[in-house]
Amino acid sequence: MPHLFSNRLRLRAPERDDIPQFLKWINDPDITENLMLYQPISAEEEANWYENMLKRPAAEHVMVIETKAPVGGKPETEAWFPIGNIQFLDIDWRNRKTEIGIMIGEKEYWDQGYGSEAMQLMLKHGFETLNLHRIWLQVCDKNVRGIRAYEKTGFTVESRFREAHYQHGRYYDIIIMSVLRSEWEALKE
Ligand SMILES: CC(C)(COP(=O)(O)OP(=O)(O)OC[C@H]1O[C@@H](n2cnc3c(N)ncnc32)[C@H](O)[C@@H]1OP(=O)(O)O)[C@@H](O)C(=O)NCCC(=O)NCCS
Repeated sequence: MPHLFSNRLRLRAPERDDIPQFLKWINDPDITENLMLYQPISAEEEANWYENMLKRPAAEHVMVIETKAPVGGKPETEAWFPIGNIQFLDIDWRNRKTEIGIMIGEKEYWDQGYGSEAMQLMLKHGFETLNLHRIWLQVCDKNVRGIRAYEKTGFTVESRFREAHYQHGRYYDIIIMSVLRSEWEALKE
């Protein structure tokens, strides 16, 4: 599949060389705070995850979110580098729906619209290339940054699984958000 481009980002296929970067992100407590991971992940576990991911249908492969920045601080030497990843998790082709997951692993890129821009790119791909009808996600109620980013992209809150997630010695609600193709297309007009 060719790279997918937006204003500041591109989504590309993953490579085995990305595994150390993914591993760094998913062992960072600031990032995993809202990822529902609950224990450290080893290089071998991450490599196994990668191999299993490649066995899934191509449309469910993780995509690496990249942006451009100057190499060594020299403005004339811009290069793409990874800041996160995004993935359709379980495409149901008969009902044309899927869950989506996202992680901006480079924390200094939070709150600058990169997450919503990557999500927007993935919605375009999902609706206009894969011909999906419904894209949904689950987000912990304490993840206000995530909820705001998804609202900006066109997701609406659909339901709430009360006290469905246990963390920090207490229960949190899981919020289900979704966007239909018709809603997403109406936002473009
Ligand atoms: C969640 C995530 C994908 C969002 O990406 P992002 O690039 O930070 O998001 P955006 O910049 O597009 O949007 C974030 C919005 O939340 C707002 N926000 C941030 N912290 C907030 C807070 N405490 N209260 C209210 N709004 C907040 C920002 O101001 C911004 O809104 P604005 O553009 O209207 O000002 C990213 O932060 C991330 O990957 N976090 C770690 C892993 C994770 O949580 N993954 C998602 C699991 S469901």
